[in-house]
Amino acid sequence: KLPYAEPYRIKMVEPIFPSTQEQRSEWIKSAGYNLFNLRSEQVFVDLLTDSGTGAMSDLQWAALMRGDESYAGSRSFHELKDTVERITGFAHLLPTHQGRAAENVLFSVLVKEGDRVPGNSHFDTTKGHIEFRKATAVDCTVDQAFDTSSPHPFKGNLSLEKLRKEFTSTPKEQIPFCLITITCNTSGGQPVSLENIRQVSALCKEFSIPLFFDAARFAENAYFIQQREEGQKERSIKEICREMFSYGDGMTMSSKKDGLVNIGGFIALRDKALYDKASTLVIVYEGFVTYGGMSGRDMAALAVGLDEATEHGYLHSRISQVEYLGERLLKSGVPLQNPIGGHAVFIDALKFLPHVPREQFPAQTLALELYREAGIRGVEIGAILADRDPLTRENRYPQTEFVRLAIPRRTYTNNHMDYVAQAVENVFARRDEITKGYRIIEEAPIMRHFTVQLSPV
Ligand code: F0G
Repeated sequence: KLPYAEPYRIKMVEPIFPSTQEQRSEWIKSAGYNLFNLRSEQVFVDLLTDSGTGAMSDLQWAALMRGDESYAGSRSFHELKDTVERITGFAHLLPTHQGRAAENVLFSVLVKEGDRVPGNSHFDTTKGHIEFRKATAVDCTVDQAFDTSSPHPFKGNLSLEKLRKEFTSTPKEQIPFCLITITCNTSGGQPVSLENIRQVSALCKEFSIPLFFDAARFAENAYFIQQREEGQKERSIKEICREMFSYGDGMTMSSKKDGLVNIGGFIALRDKALYDKASTLVIVYEGFVTYGGMSGRDMAALAVGLDEATEHGYLHSRISQVEYLGERLLKSGVPLQNPIGGHAVFIDALKFLPHVPREQFPAQTLALELYREAGIRGVEIGAILADRDPLTRENRYPQTEFVRLAIPRRTYTNNHMDYVAQAVENVFARRDEITKGYRIIEEAPIMRHFTVQLSPV
């Protein structure tokens, strides 16, 4: 047997910059202890996000040169539309400038004040767009997702019991749709099984409630189905994708993830009438319906990216790299969301830093320690991100408090993963000395984590 190796080689490189602990301590202080405020040159390995940070292929760069910039009816739009239909089965496409713009357009059509939108741990912009419309995002994720040590293979699954309860206790007119996020970012890049999608779809049909996907990492979800679900081993990723999407009415997409491009998004729909309604809002907010905020060249590169992202070889290499980092950390005893997710390693900060009180933001504290230790930028997925309750204005403390180390696609080598692992292990070795966290000195009323200013306690 031969070891696995990436199914690509590197044609272009970009320098990144090492720094000293003294420099980083200065920089992070000036940044108000908010990692979003750093300049990229102040970061050595940037694991803030896997969104828009991946490397494009030679074929994508070639497609970029052939993009058709016609205002209406661009050839590149039609290439993209055909590709999306082939992969998802959804015939009606509306490009947008990124995923949250797709949410804005679709939810403007479907969500009204007082509504409730059930799903599996909605992503923060998704929840933001729901709450902004004075509606409620209802989390119906299975309980195992919140126990980081339980090795459930599909921790993104929705609990059918919770969903049925929601469907029976809320008037149907107040549930515009159910949303399945594949993979579920908030719970740790955890997949949803095909069986669960099938069952959720059947339940939605029983109550005549439409079903949509937040499909930012749909290809990674399909890979986990292929690897972990009974009877799926022999099927291709593209076959699995077609079946996944066959159970829903449409999708919002952030192309910056499994589209393998740096910017872009779209809405894809089965129903022409809904497409017509959404089209008007795309024109108002984004642009004409055949470009919706994207350039022709970006649509051309995305069409190629969607095909590359749904190939087994690419996905195997991508997800194996995330697993490589995660497995090494697990061996060192570092508490992680287990199993390792598709796009990131999620460190369980409540277990890693048990002495830091929750009001002092343990996950943010750990993310800042990692930056100071080695110039690694992760992100807090905890109480700062969870914002205040829109009604009571009290801090919301989610069940889990994570530091997410998101791995950009095709960007770093396993040497970088070893560097990151060593840094985490160094901080883990001195975890008992870390007893104090941070307090908020300034925050925005919504999505505060991007701009929050902190000070050490
Ligand atoms: N849905 C999910 C599941 C996401 O993870 C994101 C973005 C979006 C929607 C919004 O898409 O950024 O293109 O507007 N997630 C990024 C992240 C920002 O770092 O996880 P967008």
